[in-house]
Amino acid sequence: MTEQKSRVVLVTGATSGIGLAVTRLLAGQGHRVFIGSRTEDKVLATVKQLQEEQLDVDGVVLDVRSGDSIRGFVQAAVERFGTVDVLVNNAGIPGGGVTADISDELWDDIIDTNLNSVFRLTREVLTTGGLRHKEWGRIINIASTAGKQGVVLGAPYSASKHGVVGFTKALGNELAPTGITVNAVCPGYVETPMAERVRQNYSRLSGAPEAAILEKFQAKIPLGRYSTAEEVAGLVGYLTTDTAASITAQALNVCGGLGNF
Ligand SMILES: NC(=O)c1ccc[n+]([C@@H]2O[C@H](COP(=O)([O-])OP(=O)(O)OC[C@H]3O[C@@H](n4cnc5c(N)ncnc54)[C@H](OP(=O)(O)O)[C@@H]3O)[C@@H](O)[C@H]2O)c1
Repeated sequence: MTEQKSRVVLVTGATSGIGLAVTRLLAGQGHRVFIGSRTEDKVLATVKQLQEEQLDVDGVVLDVRSGDSIRGFVQAAVERFGTVDVLVNNAGIPGGGVTADISDELWDDIIDTNLNSVFRLTREVLTTGGLRHKEWGRIINIASTAGKQGVVLGAPYSASKHGVVGFTKALGNELAPTGITVNAVCPGYVETPMAERVRQNYSRLSGAPEAAILEKFQAKIPLGRYSTAEEVAGLVGYLTTDTAASITAQALNVCGGLGNF
């Protein structure tokens, strides 16, 4: 088996859940990983923790809703580790409610965070990050099974994730001749701090206790349980290998059988 090269990897929203698991996996494989999220304390604590684990990780504060913040993030990454080989667009938020009652602010926040950010970060990495001039690259967007089917009381979230899947397919086809692959990973239910907040929200909206919501969600999953962040990270890791060169413009589920599409 050929040894994989050490790559420069950017992971957004890497201070928690799936992003943190992806960072730990890729840095553990010898890649240099630059991370960002909104909360400075969490970025500092995550970088410190991972460096103590002897991983080559650094990062800065990043708000993926802001063009200036995205530019600063990519510039800082290039200064620290060099031009970018792999971008993992992971930062995202849940959200929704009764659609007739959704405010412009909530809609815009979810679309900005989950969808517009994926375009803006990708563009910045292709330009400032130098990726467009390379013959090898990976762009991996963490979408959702909600990007393939509608989620009741989750219209803005579903719309944002369908958008991510569409963007992935278009850009994957566009960049296919270049050696840069573009794929979406679509988790179903994954046990992370976000999943906990989602259950709390449904419990508040429906009046049912959180334990009942958990049972209801688990019953929908053929595997009978949530996926783990590490299981999602495993597919991201595979997509960064040379062997995955012919997988592009795809939206691949990690969902315990929840999505049959
Ligand atoms: N958990 C699931 O069941 C599930 C299922 C399908 C898809 N997903 C997707 O997987 C991704 C990660 O979810 P998760 O469950 O790991 O969530 P999580 O535990 O809540 O982590 C989200 C991360 O994103 C960061 N973030 C949020 N808004 C940001 C912004 N505006 N700019 C920069 N960073 C931001 C958070 O840090 P700060 O808050 O400090 O910024 C945190 O590091 C999301 O795109 C989500 O939609 C999750």
